[in-house]
Amino acid sequence: MNLNEPSPDLLRKLAERLGPKGFTADAVDLDPWLTDWRGRVRGSAAALLSPVNRDEVADIVRWAAAERVAVVPQGGNTSMVAGATPAGGALLLSLRRMNAIRGISHQENIATVEAGVILSDLHRAAEAAGRRFPLSLAAKDSATIGGLISTNAGGTQVLRFGPMRALVLGLEAVLPDGQIFEGLSALRKDNRGYDLRQLLAGAEGTLGIVTAASLRLEAAVGERIVAWVGMADADKALPLLRMLEDRIGDAIEGFELVPSVALELVLRHIERTRDPLAGKHGCYALIEAAFPSGTPAAREAIEAALMEAMERGLVEDASIASNEAQAVALWALRENISEAERLDGISVKHDISVPVSDMPRFMESATRQVEAAFAGARVIAFGHLGDGNIHFNVRSPAGQAAQPWFDANNAAVNRMVHDLVTAAGGSISAEHGIGQLKLAEFARIAGPARLDALRAIKQALDPLGIMNPGKLVPLASDPPAP
Ligand code: MLT
Ligand code: ZN
Repeated sequence: MNLNEPSPDLLRKLAERLGPKGFTADAVDLDPWLTDWRGRVRGSAAALLSPVNRDEVADIVRWAAAERVAVVPQGGNTSMVAGATPAGGALLLSLRRMNAIRGISHQENIATVEAGVILSDLHRAAEAAGRRFPLSLAAKDSATIGGLISTNAGGTQVLRFGPMRALVLGLEAVLPDGQIFEGLSALRKDNRGYDLRQLLAGAEGTLGIVTAASLRLEAAVGERIVAWVGMADADKALPLLRMLEDRIGDAIEGFELVPSVALELVLRHIERTRDPLAGKHGCYALIEAAFPSGTPAAREAIEAALMEAMERGLVEDASIASNEAQAVALWALRENISEAERLDGISVKHDISVPVSDMPRFMESATRQVEAAFAGARVIAFGHLGDGNIHFNVRSPAGQAAQPWFDANNAAVNRMVHDLVTAAGGSISAEHGIGQLKLAEFARIAGPARLDALRAIKQALDPLGIMNPGKLVPLASDPPAP
């Protein structure tokens, strides 16, 4: 794709339009935003633009289109697949200054927010208004709403509320020609054909820039119960989840699998963490149930269900948080797995899904095959078991330096895991998106019908190819995957 570097004239015009707070081409200012969270990709950009409203975004895009210059939108820069890391002479467009919560309507049960709002700020604002925004994930203190929409993020409450797509009622976005799509909406039903909102969600900024969204809220949580359970092995987890659902219903909204190796990593690397149970277990689950206020005997219901699970041999031991601080401490054991893994040394990461009921068998067989094929490699498979989505990560053999092992084996491990997932009818990206890091594998596996449709949509909406190039959409001209 023949993209250009911005001309000095364009840079001057942008600097004038955006002012000193909204424009910088200074290498020191740019530096923190040029590397992805995992430190895998180091990018470059001609300038960092930080507009404060959609009209500024529209001008940026229109002027960039006129010179055929790439625009790379960025939210919290916590992509797992380098989806927001720019390359070449791109204009890096940070939405972080567009962080107004425009309104929360109790009557409509909707929050209208700008793209740069940080997820935990939205959590607090919704709570203050007596409502709840239910999507949550480990990066909640830095991830922005625009990024979460653009990646159709998942997280730990998908079991009950679905991923970001399920929570977006309307969008405002700047399209690749600079037009503003006025799709903010409080409508629960709207059947006017192709759904641009759902095209933009999960498009990773390749079809336009989300500037604001109207999001579905839920009733505030009255009582939240968080439990940590020890099990003999991962095979017990799914029967346990189904049993809890039978007893408690859809109040069970988080069910996260934590293998013992993941717990050990967290305890080793993350300060102020401790094992909640006295003994060791093969595997753990973090369970969250949330009830509306006034639910009678919510805690007793969970205690009784866990007691029954113990009698049935599904659970060996359990600890239920008795206050908010304990609940936060239990969640910290789960949410810090990625950070602990990162501190331990680079690992080959995957974000895969297979049908939920096949996951335990898949994990067992894929682990066996990968560990046999890559001598000494150590699998750590954790996460959203209830959604059929596991982060199936592979670490270097004990005692071997992580980086050289990673460099030598990353591509081959990726291929093997993705082939196993594909054979199981699964997806190579359950919740992280494709970005740059999965692009070649996506092109290898996706099949012509999916790729042709993807390319046709991209071509129709962004014929100049300026929006976040090199992400998500493999070009027909790309070299085949190695
Ligand atoms: C998680 O579930 O912790 C996140 O998706 C991050 C990760 O996969 O490492
Ligand atoms: Zn995850």
